[in-house]
Amino acid sequence: MNRAFSPFVKSMLLALLAVSATATAVEETKPAHTPAAAVKVDAAKGSTLYSDGDAARGLPACVSCHGAAGNSTIVANPKLAGQHEGYLYKQLVDFTTPERNQAVMSTYAKMLSDADKKNIAAYLAAQVAKPGTAKNKDTIDLGKKIYRGGIAGKQIAACASCHGATGNGIPVQYPRIAGQHQDYTIAQLTQFRSTKADARKNSAPMHTIASRMSDDEIAAVADYIAGLK
Ligand code: HEC
Ligand code: HEC
Repeated sequence: MNRAFSPFVKSMLLALLAVSATATAVEETKPAHTPAAAVKVDAAKGSTLYSDGDAARGLPACVSCHGAAGNSTIVANPKLAGQHEGYLYKQLVDFTTPERNQAVMSTYAKMLSDADKKNIAAYLAAQVAKPGTAKNKDTIDLGKKIYRGGIAGKQIAACASCHGATGNGIPVQYPRIAGQHQDYTIAQLTQFRSTKADARKNSAPMHTIASRMSDDEIAAVADYIAGLK
């Protein structure tokens, strides 16, 4: 009898031990999480900083380059309206590291606090993106083919598989790219492809993909993306 019970008793004891261990672990980690949860993301503060900058810190207004409500009209400066909050925040953090070292944005990103970055990201994600247009009839078929089907011979996956059929991306990892300025998209793909020390290297999959693309393929897919809605 005793022998038959012992595995059962043993497992009960183990279960009890496991429960008490979990309970202790939960209690121990609780105080460490409380202060972070108390900080609330404030899109209204993000809006003010975006539109006015902060003269006291020497921080320029983002609106001067990225346009009203994040709809940049300057082709070298990305549209930010409607971009995923998590992606925007990640970029503002990455600009403070060698992963995305860019003269202009790295200077400003270092002037923003973590709360500023979160507030601006929340503000921009809530804005409505204005559509763009494809401009080159001759390359639209190639661009569409690459976007939807990738390039089999070069082992390039379809852009749509991560950025979505309409280019709206998938939060949090995959950014929205639909309607973006051709010039900016070309610049980023060229950056991802580059092996220079100061090139954009904050995405391993994008580096692999871009390193297999020719200039013509990059230009074609960038133009197609600009027209995606
Ligand atoms: C002088 C012009 C200028 C100003 C002012 C400026 N930006 Fe930028 N921003 C740029 C350029 C140019 C890029 C593209 C950088 C690159 O090529 O990697 C960029 C890129 C970005 C990106 C990355 C977008 C993406 O799709 O990956 C974010 C986010 C951003 N800026 C936010 C801001 C915020 C927030 C401010 C205000 C604090 C600001 N910018 C002020 C010129 C500017
Ligand atoms: C395996 C998934 C995956 C595939 C396939 C993929 N991408 Fe991406 N792409 C990403 C991720 C992840 C990022 C965000 C990188 C980061 O965090 O900065 C990104 C970022 C980008 C950006 C930068 C956006 C910005 O605002 O700066 C462009 C442009 C882009 N991808 C274009 C493409 C194109 C064109 C293709 C097809 C040829 C493609 N991607 C295929 C995952 C993918």
